[in-house]
Amino acid sequence: MAEIIFDVRKPESDSEWQAYFQCRWEILREPWDQPKGSEKDEHDADAYHVMAVDHDNGDVIGVGRIHFNSPAEAQVRYMAVKEEARKHGIGSLILTQLEQYAIKHGAKKIMLYARENALDFYLRRGYFSQGPAHNLYGKIPHFSMTKTIEK
Ligand SMILES: CC(C)(COP(=O)(O)OP(=O)(O)OC[C@H]1O[C@@H](n2cnc3c(N)ncnc32)[C@H](O)[C@@H]1OP(=O)(O)O)[C@@H](O)C(=O)NCCC(=O)NCCS
Repeated sequence: MAEIIFDVRKPESDSEWQAYFQCRWEILREPWDQPKGSEKDEHDADAYHVMAVDHDNGDVIGVGRIHFNSPAEAQVRYMAVKEEARKHGIGSLILTQLEQYAIKHGAKKIMLYARENALDFYLRRGYFSQGPAHNLYGKIPHFSMTKTIEK
């Protein structure tokens, strides 16, 4: 497996934000025939976002977001890594950076709704499953998961 050199950071310029949302849409919405715009929600403005950038070509190859539901609870959403870049540690680094941001800003608990295919990924990163949640588009089962921040 060829090594991928990448870094994970906040999107900054307009073109980086465009590439960030494009990546989110291509991985999490397009395969289910969802229109452009369906990859965004009302928390984007106040959330913290990161993207993984491939050093070779500058492509955005992974994204993730975290926002606060309350002063103590943060929620991870829109974690996605391009298929060809998976299993290189990109998703883990995105998640770690989102968690570090939330902890620094007072989170005592982090929650998320995991797609069934990502359940094991989160279990191995300290999240506990609270059981089945919604079924996105009637096709993608999700599980409610939480991680308590230890001091
Ligand atoms: C879930 C997802 C974000 C994980 O991203 P990723 O970049 O593959 O994550 P990582 O590479 O950090 O970890 C995946 C596995 O690869 C392993 N891995 C990491 N680097 C590796 C390497 N160099 N060689 C081999 N395996 C490696 C990790 O250990 C991990 O396995 P583990 O869970 O058994 O520990 C990605 O699979 C994805 O985008 N899925 C589709 C969209 C989706 O479902 N998103 C979640 C919505 S809730």
